[in-house]
Formats: sequence, C-alpha cells, structure tokens
Amino acid sequence: MRTTWAFHAASQLLFGHHATRQLGEVAQRLAAKRTLIVTDPALLKAGLVEQIHVPLTETGVLVEVFSGGEPEPSFRAAEACIAAARDFKPDALLGLGGGSNMDLAKIAATVLAHGGHPRDYVGDDKIPGPVFSLICVPTTSGTGSEVSAASVLTDTDSKLKVGVLSNYLRPRVAVVDPMLTVSCPPKVTADSGIDALTHAIEAYTAVDNESFPLPPGERSVYQGRHPMGDLLAEKAIHSIGKFLRRAVADGQDLEAREGMALGATLAGMAFSNVGVAAVHALEYPVGGAVHCSHGAGNGLLLPYVMRFNLPARRKEFAAIARLLGEDVSGLNELHAAERAIEAVTKLRTDIGIPRCLRQIGVTEDQLRPFAEKAAGIRRILRVNPRPVTVDDLEGILRAAY
Ligand SMILES: NC(=O)c1ccc[n+]([C@@H]2O[C@H](COP(=O)([O-])OP(=O)(O)OC[C@H]3O[C@@H](n4cnc5c(N)ncnc54)[C@H](O)[C@@H]3O)[C@@H](O)[C@H]2O)c1
Ligand SMILES: [Fe+2]
Repeated sequence: MRTTWAFHAASQLLFGHHATRQLGEVAQRLAAKRTLIVTDPALLKAGLVEQIHVPLTETGVLVEVFSGGEPEPSFRAAEACIAAARDFKPDALLGLGGGSNMDLAKIAATVLAHGGHPRDYVGDDKIPGPVFSLICVPTTSGTGSEVSAASVLTDTDSKLKVGVLSNYLRPRVAVVDPMLTVSCPPKVTADSGIDALTHAIEAYTAVDNESFPLPPGERSVYQGRHPMGDLLAEKAIHSIGKFLRRAVADGQDLEAREGMALGATLAGMAFSNVGVAAVHALEYPVGGAVHCSHGAGNGLLLPYVMRFNLPARRKEFAAIARLLGEDVSGLNELHAAERAIEAVTKLRTDIGIPRCLRQIGVTEDQLRPFAEKAAGIRRILRVNPRPVTVDDLEGILRAAY
C-alpha cells in the first residue's frame, strides 16, 4: 500500500494582471541572455508576442520568435521548433500560448537537453534528467501546462494524441497574466475553460492515493487523490463554476478572466499530481481522429463519465454540486451528487460545447475502436475511481453518441 504522496509544480509562479512586465527580471534570474519565444501566427497577429518581447528586450535579452506552433501540435511541428532552437542557440525557451504552444516548448526543451526524437519520450517518466531552461506564459485559461508535468502531441501516423509525462517537464517559471487571455475568442475560452473544469473534477474524484494501482517497479507522475490536490481542485471548481460563463459571454470581463486564469492554473497543479482519468483517456482517440479541440472533446464526454463514476464517488459529486453553486440543501447524497452532473451538463450547453459525438462527426463504427485505443492508456485509466474495462468505455461512448 502506498501511503506517501508528493507535490510538484513550476519552480516559481507569478500571477496577476500585467505579471508579464516582470519577464525581464525573470530572464535575468535565469541568466537567459538569448530567449526563443515559441508561439503561433494567431498570437503574433493578436499582438501578444509584442507584449512579451518588450520587457525582455528592455533588459537586454536577445529575442527570437518561432511562430510555427499549431493547435494540438504534431511531431512535425516539434521537429521544426527544435531545429529553430538549434539555429538560434538560446539560453531559455519561452512557451507563449495555449497548451499547444507551451507543450511544443516543453518537448523542444526535452530534446535540446537529451537529444533523440520527441517520440522517444512518450509515456510516463521517460525523461532522464532536467530539461532546457523553460518559461511558460499561458494565453488561454485551460490546460495548466504552465505548471504541469505533461506535453501532449498528436501522432499523425497513428491518429492518436500522445503524452510525455515527467516532473522534469515542469517549467522553471510560470507567468500567468490574465490580461493575455482577453483576446481569446469565445470558442477558445469555452473549450479551454471546460478542459480546466475537467482537470479539477477528474483530480477531485480520482482513485485514492492509498489504493492507487501502480504495478511494482513502475513509476508514475500521477499518484491518485491526495489532500493537496483536493484543496486546489475545490478552489478551481468553484472559480471556474463562477466565472466560465461570464468569460465566454464577455471577453473583456477582467474579473472573470482573472477567476478563470486562477482556476485553470490551480486545476493544473491538482491534476498534474493526482492525475486525470477516463474523460482524458477517451478524448485522446476521439480528438486524434476527428476535428475537435481537446477541451470540446473533454467537455462533451465529462457528464457521461461522471454518470459512470457516480457510484464510486457520491460524496465528492455532492461536494462538486455545492462548489458549482447548486443549492443541495435537503437533498440526500445521491440526489445532491446527481446535481453535479446536471450542473456540468447545463454549463456545457450554456457555453456551446457539443452535446454528442455524432455532432462532431464521429460514426458508430468508430466507437469500439476508440474504446480499444482508450483502454490501452493505462497510465490515465488507473487514476479512474471505478475500474474501467473496454466494454465500459464503449458503453460510455455509446451513451455519448
Ligand atoms: N500539457 C498539459 O498539461 C496539457 C493539459 C491539457 C491539455 N493539453 C493540450 O493542450 C492543447 C490545447 O490547448 P488550449 O486549449 O490552451 O488551446 P490551444 O493552445 O490549442 O489554442 C487554440 C487556439 O487559440 C488561439 N489562442 C490561444 N490564446 C489566444 C489568445 N489569447 N488570443 C487569441 N487567440 C488565442 C491559438 O492560437 C490557437 O489557434 C491540446 O493539444 C491539449 O491536448 C495539455
Ligand atoms: Fe486536458
């Protein structure tokens, strides 16, 4: 029985409006005289790269920009980023963007430090030591990649999202500035926001740390549910429940943007230690095969997985209902727990997340193969509070179809 747990995050977290103005000092502390910003064309156009460039160059840092990032980045994009870094010879990489660009910077930092190909590091704990100096600056409120131990890439050959998981992937510094998310279009706000809610809910309802089923000799970044994860997930669920609708409805609502930025980063700290579970395992094959963002796929699947997990986590679901602002007074535990599923379903509808797999172009003959692919992602499925078979996974997909 495992009775110990650990907690990791970025070495330093700077949070708040205009936190990016401190990037010059951050670079100085890291002795980063040459910094490569890893980003994408949309963020260049939105003027966000400029906002990062200025404080860096003001302190004499030489900056180069790699703008070949793409949503749900492929190995090809990673190779292009690594090549750009080898040309420029930076002292630090700065991932600027949503999870996609930050993950690109993370895998590039790995290959720069240890050589080989991004594919070599896919899986749990395959990185042999510290990676290249890394700063992450999120422009969405979603993935928590700025504090997390993951880099998620798309293997275009196998049409599957693959994850590199290692505590070495946690950035040296995370700079979370809600002002950078103001330009996020409503769809990106909604999709990334419900991804963050999924992180918090999957962490809060994960299998207990004491009974985390890790086979002897295997190592894992994920450890199952523990008190620190609970603390962070509770605050995240509450903040996201309060602010996600507002951030989607009015991107200029700065209070909502700040609440979402906080919720997403705290959810990132929670899930990246405790783990994510069946929602994420199912989203990997779905997202790899159809044109659907990671967040939208998770948001679509979340209530169906909650329904499956309800028998194992009634008390926690009742608490989630309360955290999401539901009045559960007078209800018994089961009814209160049901309200969490209803609240998530309503939130999902209100922010325009697709309701069923058919709506995103999935066909019925894909359900079994998706279930089989998801069943192979043991490092995630073992976090689920209820043991889950390939038939269970197919059942969840059928309910979501
Ligand atoms: N590393 C992790 O821990 C982790 C966790 C969850 C998900 N992910 C991965 O992260 C990716 C999703 O990241 P995401 O949801 O943040 O979206 P994203 O990074 O894919 O961005 C989506 C789109 O929004 C644009 N965008 C982002 N911020 C913007 C802004 N402020 N203004 C205007 N446009 C903006 C981007 O240019 C992009 O076109 C997926 O690949 C997912 O699998 C990683
Ligand atoms: Fe996610």
